[in-house]
Amino acid sequence: MDGRKRPSDMTDSEPNEIDATPRASALIESLRSFGYSPATAIADLVDNSISANAQTIDVQFNWAGPDSTMRLTDDGDGMSPQQLTEAMRPGSSNPLDSREDNDLGRFGLGLKTASFSQARSLTVASRHGLTEPAASRCWDLDYVQRTDKWVVLTDNPRGRELETLLDGSTGTVVAWHELDRIVDDRPATDARARKSFLAMVHDVRLHLEAVFHRFIENGLHIRVNGAECQPWDPFLEGDGNTEVLQNEKLELLSPAGATRQIDIQPFILPHRSRLDASTHKRAGGQKGWNLQQGFYLYRRERLIVAGDWFDRGTKPEEHHKLARIRVEFDQDLDSLWALDVRKAKARPPASLKDDFVRIARATRKRAEEVYRSRGRKSVGPAPRKGHRVPVWSADTSGTSVKYVINREHPLLAATTAEPSTASVIGLLKLIESTVPVDHILSQGFRDERLIDSTPGSDEELRAMAVELFCALVRAGRSESDAKLIVNEAQPFDQEASFIQTLDGSRCK
Ligand SMILES: Nc1ncnc2c1ncn2[C@@H]1O[C@H](COP(=O)(O)OP(=O)(O)OP(=O)(O)O)[C@@H](O)[C@H]1O
Ligand SMILES: [Mg+2]
Repeated sequence: MDGRKRPSDMTDSEPNEIDATPRASALIESLRSFGYSPATAIADLVDNSISANAQTIDVQFNWAGPDSTMRLTDDGDGMSPQQLTEAMRPGSSNPLDSREDNDLGRFGLGLKTASFSQARSLTVASRHGLTEPAASRCWDLDYVQRTDKWVVLTDNPRGRELETLLDGSTGTVVAWHELDRIVDDRPATDARARKSFLAMVHDVRLHLEAVFHRFIENGLHIRVNGAECQPWDPFLEGDGNTEVLQNEKLELLSPAGATRQIDIQPFILPHRSRLDASTHKRAGGQKGWNLQQGFYLYRRERLIVAGDWFDRGTKPEEHHKLARIRVEFDQDLDSLWALDVRKAKARPPASLKDDFVRIARATRKRAEEVYRSRGRKSVGPAPRKGHRVPVWSADTSGTSVKYVINREHPLLAATTAEPSTASVIGLLKLIESTVPVDHILSQGFRDERLIDSTPGSDEELRAMAVELFCALVRAGRSESDAKLIVNEAQPFDQEASFIQTLDGSRCK
């Protein structure tokens, strides 16, 4: 306790004071409106499980129309009956108090506000040690409405059912009933209602995969309706093609007066041409590439903000989408970063604003260079894994750039008996001299999707790869040689696994 008085400690006999205890029935409804989504609400519960040292967290949404429910089970330290009562209290701890290093909480509210935001009934069962019994408590918003009292229910049927789940183990179970903010009165048989419920469950999983990716990478198991969460790394650090820019350490004075370092690491993600289609799609994130550019704020390994420039004058731009900057801060700096109750918002302290603007500008500049270098990449000196054979090359030796079709490309060699014959050379020169540069420039380069330079459907691309492979085999190349050549030639260099399945005996 911090020594401050609770309303119930006050009496009318004290001078100059009038009791202003909140009305339970009104305030508890207001606590529902902190702006959580189902995903941010579940993330707030997962925070609590992680703080309680859980190794496995199981989230289960059950579709049953208006009677749908959610249950989160963890194998963490659990709570004694007294701790559980305290945990159910809105404002169970003071945000000004310092916290253990691994504690992701701050406000003493999350369990309640996150749950109330989605459901009218919150039941928690917990067991701290095997020698202690499990206990349960339930907030029932209708009961609070009726009684206008801040009371939780004990020994109720929902609680007793959850307690049985803790037979023989420690941990905590959180259950939501009456999900009035998630479902409406459509019955369980309504296919569209069910579909949107399942889409919500999918969103929850993607959100947890991003927010807790570092914990998952370090061995935490989170399951959502049975599906194991896979870490979503915003920087594709394992990919090898991400550019890691200069790291910076900024200094900040903590509220306690200590000098603290803020670690800032800008990344330029690989250009689309360097990623296979599924990696590219997933790396885009839940909001998509464009909206996921900017700063990523981590607090104690937990992702709080996933892409924001923190600058009113700077909007997300297509040509800056490869810029992502990692920032880390500790929980004792929460007040300086204006962390919100949902742990979904924070912004840099005013004293760091100029540095953020400077680092953002430099990172965007480099991101734009990589973004615009698309054509050059396929022609330039940095082919994928040092092997790619481009279709185009750029001759920059003169005052202007000349784009030339690569005479060494194996498809060109394989599909013409003699590629140096006058007619073939003439055709190539014709194409090179009529690249519609004016037209392309007049379209502007604001959005690369405007220019469709894909080689056709996957089937067409693969048919071309088969054609090249067979032409090489017929020309006397070994199968493994032919696969290597196809694999290294643009645009087939993104099709490695398909190329491995090619079979020379089908080329006859
Ligand atoms: N799954 C859990 N396992 C063990 N203890 C828990 C669990 N969930 C909640 N608690 C206890 O209940 C307390 C209240 O949780 P609540 O989420 O409301 O607030 P908080 O985590 O302290 O702060 P914040 O509002 O920032 O989340 C926690 O501090 C913790 O002691
Ligand atoms: Mg919490």
